[in-house]
Amino acid sequence: MKVIMTVNGGQIEAEVPDRTLLVDFLRDVAGLTAANIGCDTSSCGACTVLLDGQSAKSCTVLAAQADGRAVVTVEGLASGPDEMHPMQLAFRAEHALQCGFCTPGMVMAAVSLLAENPLPTEDEVRTALEGNLCRCFTYQRAGSADEALELAADGGEDAKFLAGGHSLLPLMKLRLAVPEILIDIGRLSELRYIRDDDGHIAVGALSTHNDLAASGLLARELPLLAHAAGMVGDPQVRHCGTIGGSLAHADSAADLPAVVLALDGVLIARGPSGSREIGAGAFFRGLFESALEPGELLTEIRIPKPRAPLAWSFQKFTKRAIDWAIVGVAVQGGSVALVNMGQTPVRASAVERALAGGAAPRDAAAHAAEQTSPPDDLNADRGYREHLARVLVARALEESASRA
Ligand SMILES: Cc1cc2nc3c(=O)[nH]c(=O)nc-3n(C[C@H](O)[C@H](O)[C@H](O)COP(=O)(O)OP(=O)(O)OC[C@H]3O[C@@H](n4cnc5c(N)ncnc54)[C@H](O)[C@@H]3O)c2cc1C
Ligand code: FES
Ligand code: FES
Repeated sequence: MKVIMTVNGGQIEAEVPDRTLLVDFLRDVAGLTAANIGCDTSSCGACTVLLDGQSAKSCTVLAAQADGRAVVTVEGLASGPDEMHPMQLAFRAEHALQCGFCTPGMVMAAVSLLAENPLPTEDEVRTALEGNLCRCFTYQRAGSADEALELAADGGEDAKFLAGGHSLLPLMKLRLAVPEILIDIGRLSELRYIRDDDGHIAVGALSTHNDLAASGLLARELPLLAHAAGMVGDPQVRHCGTIGGSLAHADSAADLPAVVLALDGVLIARGPSGSREIGAGAFFRGLFESALEPGELLTEIRIPKPRAPLAWSFQKFTKRAIDWAIVGVAVQGGSVALVNMGQTPVRASAVERALAGGAAPRDAAAHAAEQTSPPDDLNADRGYREHLARVLVARALEESASRA
């Protein structure tokens, strides 16, 4: 469609696709690149401009919505090319910038505030800048696990490990995580292996989902783990995301925590004073909460090797193929664990007891929702998840029985 708007006092007219965002119009059509795209979801304020004199996030306004209106970007604030606006001068004088990425949006939000309220209190200033977030952090790459631990000890609570980044970076983009230091452990090949360690399979925490899915050793010894890893996200996610990251992130909607729980895995955590073993049942403490201490590195996952091959099944009910499970079920032998049926992955103990007592799969599956507390969210309510758990456990037990 044809869009005409006043930008920094001059009129700009262009034919653009209906889906064009104001920030893209400003950057690509008007050539004004100060409004930055940070989160692209209206969360960070890096793209803030004035729309008819009031601050607005230009990543969440269509160019068509700005048709016929007046837009001011930071480039249009000063009265001349060699001038600076008083707000820009104030930011410079107070050293209120680091890399500068968020600064244009901060300046525009502050200008908007003063236009409405020329003498704000400190609280009013803080409130006015609530929609603007600074994303500066320090990136450090660890060359070894020992170095990663040293960097974490130096960084304290402000530091976070970055493995595949496929849970942490989305959270940072939404500003739900704001670490000041990122310690990249993603290239630590010493923690990327899958080996037979006499009695158990040892999986290095930096093994990717794709490594697990492609492992011949896992396909032979622990096919449940190999298969479930191949069901995580999509190929791009599986090439980057790691089993250690998935477990440390402790999302009860994730697949591998429930699988490792069903397999009675033991997690090895290394901290400044050495390594310790944590059983999967004790590792998951709550939603996004694990037994890892700050600065502790998950290094290995040990999974007992069944003496004789055990039948298994993994069932995952999703809206789209690449999504997280609305409910999932992992079965190996008589062990059954559930995805997304509580704040942590949970063992379906009532089902396991019924199986041990000789119940048929369908009868045992009727107990699947007992002692669970599934979430109520936009994807499904609690009752539907309980129903899904019973249906999926029945399917999993039947499939497992057919493999025995
Ligand atoms: C589009 C998309 C679809 C997805 N679909 C699914 C899905 O269907 N099923 C599913 O289970 N998951 C899914 N995921 C999540 C994915 O599996 C992530 O890769 C995984 O949850 C996190 O692994 P990571 O290596 O990327 O961890 P990161 O994002 O790097 O880290 C996650 C957290 O764990 C910490 N951490 C990482 N490694 C360690 C370690 N070794 N020691 C201590 N702390 C550590 C980090 O500090 C951070 O807090 C999806 C992700 C995306 C983006
Ligand atoms: S890019 Fe628009 S709010 Fe973050
Ligand atoms: S100064 Fe805020 S993102 Fe760098």
